[in-house]
Amino acid sequence: MPPQAARTDAVAEFAADVRAGLTRADQKELPSKYFYDEIGSALFEVITLLPEYGLTRADEHLLERHAAEMAARTPLPVVVTELGSGSGKKSRRILEELARHQSLTYYPIDISRASLDLCERELGAVDGVGVVGLEKTYLEGLREAAARRPQGAHLMVLFLGSTLGNFERPAAEEFLRAVRQRLLPGDSLLLSADLEKSVPRLLAAYDDSLGVTAAFNLNLLARINRELEADFALSQFRHVARYNWKERRIEMHLRAVIDHTVTIPRANLTVPFRQDETIWTECSHKFTPTEVVQLAGRAGFRCEGQWVDEEWPFAQSLLIAR
Ligand code: TRP
Repeated sequence: MPPQAARTDAVAEFAADVRAGLTRADQKELPSKYFYDEIGSALFEVITLLPEYGLTRADEHLLERHAAEMAARTPLPVVVTELGSGSGKKSRRILEELARHQSLTYYPIDISRASLDLCERELGAVDGVGVVGLEKTYLEGLREAAARRPQGAHLMVLFLGSTLGNFERPAAEEFLRAVRQRLLPGDSLLLSADLEKSVPRLLAAYDDSLGVTAAFNLNLLARINRELEADFALSQFRHVARYNWKERRIEMHLRAVIDHTVTIPRANLTVPFRQDETIWTECSHKFTPTEVVQLAGRAGFRCEGQWVDEEWPFAQSLLIAR
């Protein structure tokens, strides 16, 4: 497909998703994958540095501290792929450890070209590692990486950042099943999960004092303005983070401060907002360590090892496809 046609397709799909989400009768919503345009991806990199957001540091800390043991317990030889690599910075240590035993190909998968560029720059220089970025959605990218594996090599899938928590629980299990379906017995999945912790700590992590997460959330509306010619006034919406006790998750919304109407020409849409009505943009589920093992078990994996950070409760689980 020529690039122009691909772009037209992407805009049409974005418009269709925006239309579907904003015309829902009950709770309006927008799909979180659209957070990650160039600006959103850059803002997310800043979120990972915020003092209130301990999640990425815990993730990195576990991956640094236990990389050698994780690599030693991974069936070799192996080809590595990562679902939603971002800058790929977290994966460096485990790739280095695996590359001590063999030369390694690493396929970062991301819908953001900017993230893949960062990733190729960041990890391209690691000894013994070849980086091949795949600009695709998770499962399409995984299919591609699986198709490229050499005969006899295992596939190791990295799914970090507790992104699994951004699915609703039943969908998370479905997703792990879909991953398992594309794997062979002996392939592995290194899975991060953010654990339950005090609610004030969680709320601060998703509503930081600098307002970066608020900007990240509002960028979704700004992106609709840029790409679909909409007229969202960002000052008419506020970032909201709430904890849902029943579902054990943080929910992120954008709340309208007054009654008003927004037009989105390229989605052929006029949307009324009532004061205090919200658009639901993301949820981030919190887990217990055993819950992760059980969930993965139902999806066809056994747990080979689990490492927990105590400072910011967080778990890394090495799962092997049965
Ligand atoms: N996987 C990350 C998380 O659930 C994603 C994330 C962090 C996020 N902060 C966010 C998503 C703010 C949307 C808005 O923690």
